[in-house]
Amino acid sequence: MTSALAATEKRSPPQMSELTPYEHGPALSDATLTDSSLALTWEDGTHTTLPLLWLRDHCACAQCRHPQTRERLYLPLDDIEQAPSVTLADGHLYLQWQDGHVSAFHSGWLYQRRPEATRFSALPAPQPWRDDFFPEGVRHADFLTPEGEKTWLTAMLRDGLALVTDAPLVEEEVSRLAERGPQRATNFGGRFNVRSKPTPNNAAYTAVGLPLHIDLPNWQQPPDIQLLYCLQNDASGGESLFADGARVINALREQDPEALVILSETPIDFRFQDDTHDIAIKAPVITLDSQGELVEIRLNNWIRDTLHLPAEKMAAWYSAYKALWQLFHSDAHQLEFTLKPGQMVAFDNRRVLHGRREFDPNSGARHLQGTYLDRDMLASRLRVLARTTA
Ligand code: OGA
Ligand code: ZN
Ligand code: ZN
Repeated sequence: MTSALAATEKRSPPQMSELTPYEHGPALSDATLTDSSLALTWEDGTHTTLPLLWLRDHCACAQCRHPQTRERLYLPLDDIEQAPSVTLADGHLYLQWQDGHVSAFHSGWLYQRRPEATRFSALPAPQPWRDDFFPEGVRHADFLTPEGEKTWLTAMLRDGLALVTDAPLVEEEVSRLAERGPQRATNFGGRFNVRSKPTPNNAAYTAVGLPLHIDLPNWQQPPDIQLLYCLQNDASGGESLFADGARVINALREQDPEALVILSETPIDFRFQDDTHDIAIKAPVITLDSQGELVEIRLNNWIRDTLHLPAEKMAAWYSAYKALWQLFHSDAHQLEFTLKPGQMVAFDNRRVLHGRREFDPNSGARHLQGTYLDRDMLASRLRVLARTTA
């Protein structure tokens, strides 16, 4: 028996600092020291090699990870000069380091975290809308159950648009539905009413039609998620419009790749000003990641500020903007439906554009209550629900 085991035998293996289950991986059958790494083999024949520095960094003992917060305390700045002694026992790998410190790793925990493993994610990948897309609807009563909320969260992260239906016609219900996470306050407040106002400071507070747009493109980080809860919709007109940026970007790449390059590589100005605010940013209309996937779209023609470009670049930029605008507003991409009182529509404001048809405020009342949320809070809720629901 090696000294490492002797040192740890007296206490039970430490609790790994994780809330996600890891116990189900196969047991380790071999651990062999190589140069500055440990070659591991599990009983199902899987191999991996982990650097000793990585193993030291991931020690889960109470000195290396705070037992209550589960946060890392260890700082990996010291070289590992001498190999630890290695023991496999009780489904754990024990390493006793040169200074006497002992680290214990559960076999299943290491199995899940080996570099070759595809990382488990409770989150669905975003999926561009298909031709016959219509948003998933979850009844309000179901939304209040873990399964119903999970369905809604999954649809939101996958499609960027989802409905809650059959909801009560009570003021502020939008805030109660949103209060699972902190709401994102903006210069329009933490919660806003959309109806025509006598002295509007935004196009949304008039009765005019709103072409497709995102809200607050003039912020460094526009709100991720917008909730619009319909309390009254008796006016004629006012139909809701949506289009998926992820789908439209793919169509633009096919139809006019040069336009996509121009719109994603040319920062332009966005600015909102009223009596008390002046919020401005320079950013491209389309931001793509290194794989060419959409990160965010900033399209909002009334908050777009002076186009400050070299004169010889302007014609090409306007032409690219026109191509994108026409694609978004085409029948192939724009979805239209009437929001009924008791329905809440939610959408990913940085992916899915929204708008509305003009309405006649003299023909009846139209009243929506809205708020914004961070996408992190949706992802967090879904991960938490995945711990307990199948
Ligand atoms: C908004 C908005 C849409 C609507 O408030 O930003 O776009 O249907 N409203 O009134
Ligand atoms: Zn430790
Ligand atoms: Zn809007």
